[in-house]
Amino acid sequence: DYIKAFAPATVANVACGFDIFGFAVDEPGDVVELRRREQPGIVITDILGDEGRLPRDPARNAVTVVMLRLLDHLKMPDFGCEVLLHKNMPLGSGMGSSAASAVAGVFALNELLGQPLTRKQLLPFAIEGERIACGSAHADNVGPSLMGGFVVIRSYQPLDVFSIPVPAELYCTLVHPDIEVNTKDARFILRNEVSLKNAISQMGNVAGLIAGLMQEDYALISRSMVDVIIEPVRAILIPEFNEVKQAAMEQGALGCSISGAGPSMFTLSKGKETAERVGQAMKETFALAGIDSVTHVSAI
Ligand code: HSE
Repeated sequence: DYIKAFAPATVANVACGFDIFGFAVDEPGDVVELRRREQPGIVITDILGDEGRLPRDPARNAVTVVMLRLLDHLKMPDFGCEVLLHKNMPLGSGMGSSAASAVAGVFALNELLGQPLTRKQLLPFAIEGERIACGSAHADNVGPSLMGGFVVIRSYQPLDVFSIPVPAELYCTLVHPDIEVNTKDARFILRNEVSLKNAISQMGNVAGLIAGLMQEDYALISRSMVDVIIEPVRAILIPEFNEVKQAAMEQGALGCSISGAGPSMFTLSKGKETAERVGQAMKETFALAGIDSVTHVSAI
């Protein structure tokens, strides 16, 4: 009658794959605790770590809305439980914060109910949480947070999601500067049209990154971690973006770009030592501009 679930942070887009690529990291991540209760309905007992910013009303909180949708789908209006949410990462961080909460919630509920749905079947519910949290139903954070590893959203309508293997020695450095970027704003500033020239570059890089990851070809991964469409527009939201990226590349990162909608930045590196050295250099570069940051290194 009790369950505690962890769902990890994620890096969405992975440079060239806007809304179609994402991978999970080891930490940080959000935790949801559910406890059954006699009375019907879902109640939020507390949310820790959000500085009081998330709605406590179950009809408005993305985690509980997603859970209510699942109960609705399963035709279980009489089910009752208490929800305790531990937010272990900042809102608006570009680390898939809202996705991790929604995934932890819907996963925990499905477990408590004896797994009526498979993990993959939970995905459309978690995506709805993103629509509530930031106004767009993208799956490149919830997909990897739910399934783990590197995930591709080949199509949204119909939803077609698959996982690909990555080299064992591939490490991610995720650096979160102490500033906030609202995902809705970061999507609003994007242009709706893409030139044919840029579309061709981007498609080449998407194909190259997939092949590089699957064939463990680090040089190809490196050449393909280029985003000519989104990054040039969003980089202006991140102070010191170019300097931090340059510092990462000088220390041997394979590539460096914005994590999700930012302001977090991520790199991929071959080997943990390089990933740690890269993180140190990125942190120091932010610090030179007076910006505090937190660094996480993990395998993918
Ligand atoms: N693909 C989404 C975006 C991820 O870049 O807006 C948001 O975390």
